[in-house]
Amino acid sequence: MGRIREACDLDFWPERLPPPREVLLERVVGCDGIVTLLTDRVDAELFDRAGPQLRVVSNMAIGVDNVDLEAAAARGVIVGNTPDVLTETTADLTFALILAGMRRLLEGVEFIRRGEWVTWEPQGFLGHDVYGATLGIVGMGRIGAAVARRARAFSMPTLFLGRRPMPAMAAALDVEQVGSLAELLERSDVVSLHAPATDATRHMIDAAALRQMKPTAVLVNTARGPLIDTTALIEGLDVGEIACAALDVTDPEPLPADHPLVRHQRAIVVPHVGSATLTTRQKMAGIAADNLLRVLRGEQARHVVALGG
Ligand code: GLV
Repeated sequence: MGRIREACDLDFWPERLPPPREVLLERVVGCDGIVTLLTDRVDAELFDRAGPQLRVVSNMAIGVDNVDLEAAAARGVIVGNTPDVLTETTADLTFALILAGMRRLLEGVEFIRRGEWVTWEPQGFLGHDVYGATLGIVGMGRIGAAVARRARAFSMPTLFLGRRPMPAMAAALDVEQVGSLAELLERSDVVSLHAPATDATRHMIDAAALRQMKPTAVLVNTARGPLIDTTALIEGLDVGEIACAALDVTDPEPLPADHPLVRHQRAIVVPHVGSATLTTRQKMAGIAADNLLRVLRGEQARHVVALGG
């Protein structure tokens, strides 16, 4: 913000909660650029209110599903995002969720907090080994690949589903590309989602997909909530179609404390913290500022989101 303030006439929204829609629409009028969060919807209506003066939307996230890229392209507005710097941080969190889900960490913590830990039990909290378990990665982008690299240290045979054949990636990481989501779901002990939220990926994990998974499987989502049909997931957890869902992202987001998923014994939900380390958030902020300032200076942004990319 300091760098933006030095270079621009800065209008800053200081509240914890995002600006109400009407306020956002009023305050974009007269802006040459805006820095947005994933909680801000940037669509044709916003572009029309901002007018032709608006040149850049710098989203402080890698995901840009909150931005209508077609509407931006149609008006020549550059959209920037913050990839790369959060890859390893998000892969770390993915592994934390894999470990927590397979080894039932949250249940154990809650058990102690309830005062029920009275002895060591041979059959207490039996989970599943992460070591040697088969990992299925849905979406082999930068974060998916970083998760696959970590899986090697746990001797996890790793499958992935990609949008196109990726033989070089498969060979380099010693992972196997599968031909269908069904095959990945049937064979995996852990299914980890790393695809963007698009019309094509919405509810890719639905009731039918959950039925294809092993009853012992853990489903991990550090990508975007709408990849999973929440209602189907709750039902699937209720009837034991899978063992556990470990989620950093949900649909809707945020979830209230009394939501069935939050209360579910077989679910672990954390509040969209995939990139939440001090170092990574500082880097994301720096890139968001760079993307904005470069476009305003007439230069190329560091990370431009291509339509359809
Ligand atoms: C966070 O979810 C991001 O897209 O950076």
